[in-house]
Amino acid sequence: MSKKAYLEYDGKKIALPVIIGTENELGIDISKLRSKTGLITLDRGFKNTGSTTSSITYLNGEKGILRHRGYSIEDLASKSTFTEVSYLLIYGKLPSSNQLLKFETKLKHHTLVHEDFKIILDGFPSKAHPMGILSSLITSLTAFYPESIDPNRSRDKVNLSIIRMLGKFPTFVAWSYKKRIGHPIVYPDNSLDYCSNFLKMMFKMPTENYEYNPLISDVLNKLLILHADHEQNCSTATVRIVGSSLSSIYASISGGMNALWGPLHGGANQAVIEMLEKIKKDGSNIKKYIKKAKDKNDPFRLMGFGHRVYKNFDPRAKIIKEATDNVLNKLGINDPILDLAKTLEKIALKDQYFIDKKLYPNVDFYSGIIYRALGIPPEMFTVMFAFGRLPGWIAQWKEMRENNEPLGRPRQIYTGEKSLKYIEIDKR
Ligand code: CMC
Repeated sequence: MSKKAYLEYDGKKIALPVIIGTENELGIDISKLRSKTGLITLDRGFKNTGSTTSSITYLNGEKGILRHRGYSIEDLASKSTFTEVSYLLIYGKLPSSNQLLKFETKLKHHTLVHEDFKIILDGFPSKAHPMGILSSLITSLTAFYPESIDPNRSRDKVNLSIIRMLGKFPTFVAWSYKKRIGHPIVYPDNSLDYCSNFLKMMFKMPTENYEYNPLISDVLNKLLILHADHEQNCSTATVRIVGSSLSSIYASISGGMNALWGPLHGGANQAVIEMLEKIKKDGSNIKKYIKKAKDKNDPFRLMGFGHRVYKNFDPRAKIIKEATDNVLNKLGINDPILDLAKTLEKIALKDQYFIDKKLYPNVDFYSGIIYRALGIPPEMFTVMFAFGRLPGWIAQWKEMRENNEPLGRPRQIYTGEKSLKYIEIDKR
């Protein structure tokens, strides 16, 4: 028998259907609430509001569980590759070896970008933040592929846009970095796998041979997998809401990238390293910064701590912490910032404020330390997050379109002036 929740208002009682997810998550379906009662719900920051049903990612923040299409993040991060996880997220199933090969071959056919993108790139000031460059390049894809704007394209054509997006993204990421450091761009090399090709475009210099390091490719695969999807987070919700107006996939994902950029979301990885550097410079006085984070009159927050949905350890943070130790050891790097981060974590986890508020390190707390070890500078960290999140955004955009989701358009409770009479400017 279907479950119901009851709402009583103004002497009238209505039954609201309860939706049950495959993992027994419960939600009250309020889609008829306004027409039956005149009421809307108010939920600032959507802390209790589900915006959709989705079969892509399952996340249980209390238990620290994250699964994509049923597969645990632990298995995917240790056994899979980024392209395989991309396929899984976008098409719903793990590929056979033949399907994966075909998918990867298709991506390789679309790594090259139109030469005119170099003119766009040239137009940016050299110190422009690479997130701004990248989101502009992605939305510019609509100009190079105007047919992508048509909301009534066939599935095959939509799939071509998806492949183009995934194929070209690493090229754009690497080029936004080269722009930032003032080095010549490097063209894609399709003899390499997805991650190795990206690393070559990032680090190859015209003056020297590029040395391929499989360890670095492996680590990059892992980091990208850990960011690949995270259900209805701020940037993904943005992608879906932009796409719900039937905007193109490129415009929708560019919108998501801008939502990701902020320091409360994907910008946190850059903010963590900057915070750790600041603490180090200030004599590694960790207690002072813990105190600041707890002070309600101080805007300082412990970056890389806390999460909207994880009220337990972020499973991705556990994997990244282990990987950080591993990578730094293997590369023979001794980064004092890692020791500082570990001490900070230890102290915060014993502090009553962090215990009471269930604030644990999140995925961004350690990711920057690894990126730095790979030679990727802080201003590129959020770009790397976007790179990893790309297949998730694509999968969510595709699901939203295939399910014919309605236009995303929240309501509000108006708190402004009641009707006023207009007064001519000379009489005010
Ligand atoms: N340092 C100090 N206090 C904190 C922190 C923090 N990092 N995070 C939350 N709090 C406090 C906050 O002040 C509030 O206290 P009170 O109840 O007394 O007002 C309480 O904990 C709840 O915080 P909130 O901001 O209402 O909770 P939220 O679920 O909206 O916040 C968050 C989630 C990620 C915005 C927040 O924890 C934060 O600002 N963290 C630092 C930024 C960060 O690391 N972001 C990356 C998130 S992981 C990557 C991703 O998926 O986006």
